[in-house]
Amino acid sequence: DCKNDPSMLAAVNSVFYNAVAAFVPEMAHTLGRLVEKSKMLKNGDYQCKEAMPLFAQLKAKGALPAGVNSPVQVAQAIVANIPKDNEVVDMDSINVNGPGFILCRVKKEYLEYHLNTVMNSSIDGADPKLPLPKSVLEKPETVVVDFSSPNIAKEMHVGHLRSTIIGEAVCRILEFTGADVKRINHVGDWGTQFGMLITYLKEAFPTFGHSDDDVDIGGLTAFYKKAKMRFDEDADFKKTSQLNVVKLQAGDEECRKIWQKLCDISRIEFEKVYKRLDITLEECGESFYNPKIPAVIEEFEEKKLIQVEEGGAKCVFVPKHKIPLMLQKSDGGFGYDSTDMTALKYRLNDLAATRLVYITDFTQGDHFDMCFRAADKAGWVEPKKHRLEHIGFGTVQGEDGKRFKTRSGETVRLVDLLDEAVKRMEESLMERINEKKAVITEDQVPEVASAMGYGAVKYFDLRRNPTSNYKFSYDEMLDTRGNTAIYLLYAHARLESIISKGLADHKIDVNEIIKNKSVKITLDHPAERNLALHLHMFADMIEEVLQDLYPYRVCDFLYALSNAVSDFVTKCKVLGSPEMESRLLLCRSSAIVMRQCFELLAIRHVDRI
Ligand code: ARG
Repeated sequence: DCKNDPSMLAAVNSVFYNAVAAFVPEMAHTLGRLVEKSKMLKNGDYQCKEAMPLFAQLKAKGALPAGVNSPVQVAQAIVANIPKDNEVVDMDSINVNGPGFILCRVKKEYLEYHLNTVMNSSIDGADPKLPLPKSVLEKPETVVVDFSSPNIAKEMHVGHLRSTIIGEAVCRILEFTGADVKRINHVGDWGTQFGMLITYLKEAFPTFGHSDDDVDIGGLTAFYKKAKMRFDEDADFKKTSQLNVVKLQAGDEECRKIWQKLCDISRIEFEKVYKRLDITLEECGESFYNPKIPAVIEEFEEKKLIQVEEGGAKCVFVPKHKIPLMLQKSDGGFGYDSTDMTALKYRLNDLAATRLVYITDFTQGDHFDMCFRAADKAGWVEPKKHRLEHIGFGTVQGEDGKRFKTRSGETVRLVDLLDEAVKRMEESLMERINEKKAVITEDQVPEVASAMGYGAVKYFDLRRNPTSNYKFSYDEMLDTRGNTAIYLLYAHARLESIISKGLADHKIDVNEIIKNKSVKITLDHPAERNLALHLHMFADMIEEVLQDLYPYRVCDFLYALSNAVSDFVTKCKVLGSPEMESRLLLCRSSAIVMRQCFELLAIRHVDRI
């Protein structure tokens, strides 16, 4: 029945499963996944490495069949058990390598069958939805993704940009597979910095709250700096600030009003960035959890997990960490740890999430590891049911390899960075128009440039393992060749241009063909076969990316697919060839899979450039 499973990996695996099970029937129930995608596609599509561990197990049990004395012979015995007339694996392609690796290719007919049935039936119509592997559909989850999470009254910085970009992709990937995703913006809207901000606002804008006019406090960053200056230079100011924190937390009306005002101003700024980048988030900041904190501390106390330090701070020690989590400070206040433990419980209980994902820079790795361990100690986590993860990303550096700064040494403002990418993209598109290479007209430049510019910034970040640091380079991210969004978007536009020429010059409408099922895709050229193989691996890639939620897996797949597309359109004539209809269908399938990947990465695609 894996014939209709979009996962080719599952289909190949079941062939090998049957072959191995026939070889060791008594072990059939212990077998896990036996096959993986080959690391080198030129040697084979899939590989099975089971012969080595199987040989070792049989040898240890003294159960090796007569005549089988090496892993290679185990591999050969497995191969001998694969039925010659199976529908999936190409028997001529099988070869046993090295110490006992079995490499194989998928039958051309199977690839054709898949494209013509599973794939084309699911992409029929205006809103194609690519098929998902059965293994994925079986377990839809409720997932909380905590991302972006900037701090009120402070500018969003490059670190928040990484969290935002990665988080959006993670959410889209999860949503695509049917998960119920809660996209949480855990904004820093609570904490001691509000004392000084409130004090400063009262001092600098005494009419606030007393007249009906709304005061304009100007840029928040400048406001924050001035408040900080007063805080550092004036002891009375500092004292008043500390009192104001207490007043705010106790619900004092005036303090709350000012706090609300600061949050509102920040929110407007954050929203501007989210809107530009197509980011969807639901704000549920630190302040939301504040009233729920005492009950959590009580629970830890009841469970005898609190250690009271000298001075009165309430701490929780967890395995593998020398410093504790602090649930309550010695002055009675709550901090980052208190809030996160309360949020964690809320997400597991009230939101009924089975998977919690936090996306911040790597320096917070220990913090989250401690939170997860404390939650475990409190008995909140069921290992079979829950999964708690922190995706910690590296730093963004300037082209000199140092901390990312402007020429004058200021931290780079996110909005300026995005503006610059779009501006450069506009210049390059105008150049194309002047050289008469472009299909678009001048008035379309702003829209296309922002899709490509934002896409380039996002892809440059997403395409690598999040744990790595990287150097921010416009030249590199806007390169039309290489692993960039620009290259990918051009490859996609090229497909669309072939498809529209097919309609305009040859009167072939691929959508009609699919609807009428009048033509089938055939894969006789190696470049066609290679492209089809990549298209099929989409489902396997989705299954893989669900494990660790690293969006670079989507990027790697998309880049490899684009290379297969380029190879195909270079080597196989589409328009006017005898295979024109089949090849146009192949173009369309490729464009759809590419668009799905862009969608997962929150990159806007363009059809014409
Ligand atoms: N506001 C924090 C920061 O800017 C990130 C919050 C991450 N989420 C959390 N639940 N702690 O560093």
